[in-house]
Amino acid sequence: MSYLSSSTEHLAFDSSKGRNMESLFWKAVSLLALIVAFIALILGIVAHDKVISTPEQIVYNSCDDVQGPSGTYNIRPDKTQPPFSAYCDMDSDGGRWTLVASIHENDIDGKCTVGDMWSSEQGPSQTSNQKGGRNWENKNVFGRLEAVTNQDYKNPAYYSLQASDIMIWHVPNDRRVSDWSNSATFKYYTTDKILSRYDGTLYSLYSKHLPLENADPGLKPLLDQINATMNASALIDSFYEYRYDGGRRKDRILDGGNDMFDTGNRISFTTQDETSFQSMQYGQPYFFYGSGVEVVTAPWYPFLSLAWIGDLGSPTPPQNFTYKVQSNYGADGKGVAQTYENTMITEGKLTAVYTAFNVFNASDPSICEVYFYIYSKQVWNSKLPTSFIKVKFSNTTREAINIVRLTGAPQHILAGYTLLSRTSGQQVTQAHIEDILKVYMRQAQSFQFKITNPKVYSKIKYSKGNDNMLLTGIPTEEQSRVDAGFIQFRPHNSLGVPNALCPGIRLRIANNPERMCIGGANTAGVNLNLCGDYAGWGGEPGSRANKTSPSETGKSLTDINSSILIFTR
Ligand SMILES: *[C@@H]1O[C@H](CO)[C@@H](O)[C@H](O)[C@H]1NC(C)=O
Ligand SMILES: *[C@@H]1O[C@H](CO)[C@@H](O)[C@H](O)[C@H]1NC(C)=O
Ligand SMILES: *[C@@H]1O[C@H](CO)[C@@H](O)[C@H](O)[C@H]1NC(C)=O
Ligand SMILES: *[C@@H]1O[C@H](CO)[C@@H](O)[C@H](O)[C@H]1NC(C)=O
Ligand SMILES: *[C@@H]1O[C@H](CO)[C@@H](O)[C@H](O)[C@H]1NC(C)=O
Ligand SMILES: *[C@@H]1O[C@H](CO)[C@@H](O)[C@H](O)[C@H]1NC(C)=O
Ligand SMILES: *[C@@H]1O[C@H](CO)[C@@H](O)[C@H](O)[C@H]1NC(C)=O
Repeated sequence: MSYLSSSTEHLAFDSSKGRNMESLFWKAVSLLALIVAFIALILGIVAHDKVISTPEQIVYNSCDDVQGPSGTYNIRPDKTQPPFSAYCDMDSDGGRWTLVASIHENDIDGKCTVGDMWSSEQGPSQTSNQKGGRNWENKNVFGRLEAVTNQDYKNPAYYSLQASDIMIWHVPNDRRVSDWSNSATFKYYTTDKILSRYDGTLYSLYSKHLPLENADPGLKPLLDQINATMNASALIDSFYEYRYDGGRRKDRILDGGNDMFDTGNRISFTTQDETSFQSMQYGQPYFFYGSGVEVVTAPWYPFLSLAWIGDLGSPTPPQNFTYKVQSNYGADGKGVAQTYENTMITEGKLTAVYTAFNVFNASDPSICEVYFYIYSKQVWNSKLPTSFIKVKFSNTTREAINIVRLTGAPQHILAGYTLLSRTSGQQVTQAHIEDILKVYMRQAQSFQFKITNPKVYSKIKYSKGNDNMLLTGIPTEEQSRVDAGFIQFRPHNSLGVPNALCPGIRLRIANNPERMCIGGANTAGVNLNLCGDYAGWGGEPGSRANKTSPSETGKSLTDINSSILIFTR
């Protein structure tokens, strides 16, 4: 298996076979030199040049073949490529681990800036079609072996060394090679041969099986189709086109002084209790893969929010689904407040049930908030809610927080909210509502939604650290949402945006993997915190952690100042 190389780099090797070959080599060299000197003498030529020889080196296929202590060895996993030096760990679980990569954060405030080799150095991408970076998925190599705790590093073993398991070390930055092992705060490895299931390398895992792309489009194709067929003005005479001027927050309709709302139409939802409403930015999808739920908003005419609730077979289907809409009506007590109670309509194979709250007959544009759900036992195999409750509902034309809830663990239904309005306070009628709902229903019946996403993870064994120590490094808001003792691959966050790998944990609720996973590609172009090697480890602005402890949303400085070293075997 050994191989003579001409590199001048010093390498550790101490097999007696190597020594014997070395002395043989020197004998051959001396003999050659003697012959050359003899010929030169014969020819009367004065030889100026000395014969330079290099120390002989052994080249291994990989660390798997090394017999010796942990350290740097020359390896050549692919016989068609030149050898390169690699670090072998010969201690953890019997050794034979080859270091293939390191992920290092040089600037926690820089989002996909210089040094973020594993995400992008070109800044966050701005369209959903672009990826931040492809280095998890390609054969680029970068970084210097001696400096893996000072910069990102990837060697050819990442793609060329066939392996079955993964080991991860967390090593404080700026450490010398000889210190990596002792200074590591965590060392753990898989034993389930996870890589064998993905063609043997991290490269094949990401490039062939789990590419860093956004999750399935979910409800987007339905929204596009509704967008293409809806014409509110054709269905509602004097339809009022309120202005979307909620500013940078994009979460409300201030209506440019036309006085439909004062601070209107802030929409939120929850699949849990009332303490955990998720507010929504218009136009942004929210995915909850564990419960098979996706909620979207479309800031068009009319404003629409849709929620697909509970895929059959999702691990944690929601018990309830609740919409909350906060409004401050421009009518300010004038005009009429009226409710349309639960009403049922059908269109094709779908049925809708709606409840609406109306403000009209003031001089301002009228307001009709329609809360609905659509189901079909026949095409969607829907499991119906047991009730559709007005938890809180206004009866005035001033301000209101309307809360509407579906209970009884409904599954395979579409819940929704839409906002209708007419000029000069003209009343929106039930006929108007039903015409609009029928457009949604006609488009929806050709869809089968799937909001689940396979979770790929492996259980780990520790050679340093344990589950509890690992959990104490997780941002406190996230501690109850993860399980320690795993490595998870390519989780998607609640926007459907991927992260590459979660060191030491598996996500139970995948809202914010960027706070503790690595390699955020920011394919959404919406939230800068999603982009970077340690994309969101710094936490939300203002929640900076200290050296030893994480904050609510960010990891400790010790974690941020450590590199993740990845080995395979
Ligand atoms: C929508 O309907 C209105 C009223 O019928 C019509 O004037 C307008 O051209 C339609 N818009 C589109 C895009 O079809
Ligand atoms: C679901 O809603 C019902 C009715 O409002 C409530 O009593 C129950 O506590 C809710 N369940 C959960 C898990 O929030
Ligand atoms: C469809 O979407 C486009 C782009 O967001 C928007 O300008 C247009 O008004 C939408 N159409 C309807 C009918 O809402
Ligand atoms: C709306 O206002 C008009 C006159 O301004 C009045 O005739 C009508 O009864 C009002 N409608 C309701 C439902 O109060
Ligand atoms: C309006 O709602 C409040 C509280 O929800 C209630 O006390 C009041 O009786 C209601 N008024 C009418 C006219 O229904
Ligand atoms: C770091 O923060 C934790 C939790 O807020 C606190 O208990 C600890 O004392 C802080 N340590 C330092 C060095 O500030
Ligand atoms: C630790 O991390 C912080 C924040 O990223 C950085 O300012 C500081 O320089 C780092 N310290 C060391 C010793 O790397």
